[in-house]
Amino acid sequence: MPPIYVTQPYLPPLEEFIPYLQKIWSSKVLTNGGPFHQQLEQALCEYLGVKHLALFTNATIALVTALQALRITGEVITTPYSFVATAHSLLWNGIKPVFVDVDPSTLNLNPAKIEAAITPQTTAIMPVHVYGHPCDVDAIQKIADNYNLRVIYDAAHTFGVQDNNGSVLNYGDLSVLSFHATKVFNTFEGGAIICPDEKTKIRIDHLKNFGHVGEVNVVAPGINGKMSEFNAALGLLQLKYVDQAILLRKKIDAAYRERLKTVKGIHCLDPTGEKVANFAYFPILVQGDYPISRDALYQKLKDSGIHPRRYFYPLISDFPMYRGLPSANRENLPVATAAAQQVLCLPIYPDLDVAVVDEISSFIAAQ
Ligand SMILES: Cc1ncc(COP(=O)(O)O)c(C=O)c1O
Repeated sequence: MPPIYVTQPYLPPLEEFIPYLQKIWSSKVLTNGGPFHQQLEQALCEYLGVKHLALFTNATIALVTALQALRITGEVITTPYSFVATAHSLLWNGIKPVFVDVDPSTLNLNPAKIEAAITPQTTAIMPVHVYGHPCDVDAIQKIADNYNLRVIYDAAHTFGVQDNNGSVLNYGDLSVLSFHATKVFNTFEGGAIICPDEKTKIRIDHLKNFGHVGEVNVVAPGINGKMSEFNAALGLLQLKYVDQAILLRKKIDAAYRERLKTVKGIHCLDPTGEKVANFAYFPILVQGDYPISRDALYQKLKDSGIHPRRYFYPLISDFPMYRGLPSANRENLPVATAAAQQVLCLPIYPDLDVAVVDEISSFIAAQ
């Protein structure tokens, strides 16, 4: 059996992409908000059910720019249980991350722990909808309103996710999506900021284009965050297939749940109230009553050609540039620390054969 990785990017039929490339070759418009860029922004607003969306070269630059757009400074409360780009976007803005522990059932930022971490320097909260499962958005907004804080969601995993009110991307002041190759919807590399009003969208558009307004005006120290026409064209084609891709993911998710539900010591993380899920990841917790440790299972799976990933281990707060912060102390983060020791994300992607899910599940059950 060829190696099975935690994910495999979804790609549309190559021949369907050629006409898009022909258009780019004949127009010679390669970037700078060209026609495919404009079309994709419009198409994604409609598909996702959001008002304004600014495409980016990737989610990391989008997070950095989102903080700039709202002029966030000082301290920002965030989660240690995420991909390192979440906190890096703060450091790139000279902002001090303040880590707060996660909720044991969702592994998202625990709102009950936020208030104790607020200081006079706190200006914002940056939660993550980990694995595409929505945060407790109402509780977070209540705290933000009480303390006059902004909320920027790292929604890198949250493409297409809805709760009873519609798109989860509409919560907070801004949300940031990733269209990286490993994501549910990919443009090879890419990302977007979702914002509720046109004024903010215009500011974000300036910031992602060096701060340029017209030919001779520069209104802010912007960056180059623009998505190219190649990536935007691919996005338009990917959008035609994304519902089908999510449906295939749903089948894999259901198969794992069915086969692993009786395995002692394996806990499959449950969805958290989303009305429409995207099945971006399949995280399990390898608990104390499982016969071997998480790392032993991880190694055994790898030795047999299956490559799960320990998302998110190590915690961001354990990396050298963060671990000196007072909030990075593990005693402050017991739930995140335990989850990082137990979690294993199993392979899930549209083309994964259910027979392979059977094999992986049987392997896990047989230890
Ligand atoms: C939670 C989270 N935030 C941010 C990013 C960064 O996204 P990108 O690779 O598009 O820069 C990722 C993953 O890549 C992620 O998982």
